[in-house]
Amino acid sequence: MDFSFLGDYKYFFINGTRITIMLAFFAVLFGIMIGIILAMLKISHNKILRAIASSYIEFIRGTPLLVQLFIIYYGLPYLGIQFPDFPLFGQNIGDFMAGVIAMSINSGAYVAEIFRAGIQAVDKGQMEAARSLGMPYLMAMKKIILPQAFKNILPALGNEFIVVIKESAIVSIIGIHDLMYNADTVRGNTYKPFAPLIVAALIYFVVTFTLSKFVGLLEKRMDTA
Ligand code: ARG
Repeated sequence: MDFSFLGDYKYFFINGTRITIMLAFFAVLFGIMIGIILAMLKISHNKILRAIASSYIEFIRGTPLLVQLFIIYYGLPYLGIQFPDFPLFGQNIGDFMAGVIAMSINSGAYVAEIFRAGIQAVDKGQMEAARSLGMPYLMAMKKIILPQAFKNILPALGNEFIVVIKESAIVSIIGIHDLMYNADTVRGNTYKPFAPLIVAALIYFVVTFTLSKFVGLLEKRMDTA
């Protein structure tokens, strides 16, 4: 297989990787914000709040990311909410925003479950003890429960980041110049249908494998803490 196209086209892969990582980073960042709120609703004692959180989580996990992406990308403008339309880092910012929004909404549902499981894995007695000492609920949550829950949550969040990096290849379909999209451009420009895909796969793998090693390290460190 001939990889000589890399000389002329390496920046397609480098820039694409940058967009992919940026997209995944923002998606997980906003996903965490959405997820924390949902997790709090989900463990609250209010039935309605719990139902709202459950509906969100079930609906998002029960529909394809591709459909969610299209609903955001085509649906919001149809409803009169326009995305901005100018380039930033060689990338249309509106398309990028649509991708980040869709992936954040999606990731939030999964992150919510990560937080809920992490919080509920902390022994109930911890909250009871904190409350019996007179700590208000939110304070006990913040000072007692969450620091312990962190041990379960942090590695899982690392894994979510890995998942989002891989799943983000789908945004190439709305014209975000991510790694997948750029690999496809290289295929077209060079008339090489195969080799650019191998390059893209290898880059995805190097990124996710590195992260997964990092998560493994984190897990080990948390175990002894
Ligand atoms: N491929 C899945 C779908 O179509 C996306 C799963 C996203 N997972 C995640 N942990 N964020 O819905």
